Amino acid sequence: MFALTGIGHLVTNDETVGQGKLGVLHGAALVADDAGNVSWVGKQSELENHFDGKPTDVGGRAVIPGFVDSHTHLVFAGDRALEFESRMQGKPYAAGGIKTTMAATRAASDDVLAANVARLASEALASGSTTLEVKSGYGLSVRDEARSLVAAKTATSETTFLGAHVVPPDTNADDYVALVQGEMLDACKGNAKWIDVFCDRGAFDVDQARAILQTGAAVGLGTRIHANQLQQGGGVQLGVELGVASCDHCTHLSQQDIDALSGARATTVATLLPTAELCTRSPFPDARKLIDAGVNVALASDCNPGSSYTSSMPLVIALAVINMGMTCDEALWSATAGGAQALRRSDVGNLRVGSRADMVVLDAQSHIHLAYRTGVQQVRAVIRGGKTVAGTL
Ligand code: NIG
Ligand code: FE
Repeated sequence: MFALTGIGHLVTNDETVGQGKLGVLHGAALVADDAGNVSWVGKQSELENHFDGKPTDVGGRAVIPGFVDSHTHLVFAGDRALEFESRMQGKPYAAGGIKTTMAATRAASDDVLAANVARLASEALASGSTTLEVKSGYGLSVRDEARSLVAAKTATSETTFLGAHVVPPDTNADDYVALVQGEMLDACKGNAKWIDVFCDRGAFDVDQARAILQTGAAVGLGTRIHANQLQQGGGVQLGVELGVASCDHCTHLSQQDIDALSGARATTVATLLPTAELCTRSPFPDARKLIDAGVNVALASDCNPGSSYTSSMPLVIALAVINMGMTCDEALWSATAGGAQALRRSDVGNLRVGSRADMVVLDAQSHIHLAYRTGVQQVRAVIRGGKTVAGTL
């Protein structure tokens, strides 16, 4: 058992225990059981009725649910610093850069891939991400996609087969789409929970994406889609048609796309990835318009070596608030409970009784400071499954 007390501002994401959608409690305490789940939350004055050990006093600091980063590409080798540098001098971002990382990934050993995943996962954990989704997508051959998923599985159970990231060089697109749905899916499905397709300019079209996602669903994988990142197109509406868990990016949306996402709010989340827009100098998605239309919005990092080489969810939250019209409450919800919804999980992204005791102790009075003190390291400690896994209490 483990208990925190002296929590000045506790975000539970449980409207039944505290104020507003974030379920905020002041002067709060929290208890976790030996299985690493939350067993009680409430007023610190009532803690003694629920815990008889010595609680850890966090000195009035804020405690929030651990971030659920529902979109990352952590399995790769090499980097693309030179591409970034030339982009900052005016060269536009294009899907083709993925092929550079493909070559480095294919050349890397299994141990190097696993070590890269471990390094980035621990970097993400240190900034408060206690749940990660991790995609393949830089192998683009049967062997290299399969071993990418083995590497992804070392960090998380939320693994995604993204063989359909781009068509590899010197390969016919129809042949590759058939390979992804056939031999590659067979080799990957055992280590994947999800299947994803990059449906955009320079990657896969709507018909190819539909075929791949339907084949993945038929073998039991959950579906998600990279849609409308580089231009308007049919990706979001395809995602809604197929009932995917999440349409990711949603940078260029028509009113019909927004209406479709709003109508699908019970099944499909719109996951926004503002660090990709920041690092590719693209327009930010209009989160305000989506939320006002009733769309469920998640925020994630898209951590990858091309468009967004950051794992920082605090930065993502700051951009969402400062550049995308989200309130501080909405941004925190989207980076925690929203990410959980994008992964169809209810046991993470909140601090309800029975959920995993995954939380972040902030060196701040409230979650507002995540955006307000932009870029400042405010994560004091990260607790996962009731254990301190980064920082110190
Ligand atoms: O989500 N959009 C597709 N995939 C990644 C970028 C991949 C890359 O440039 O290496 C993304 O932004
Ligand atoms: Fe992505």
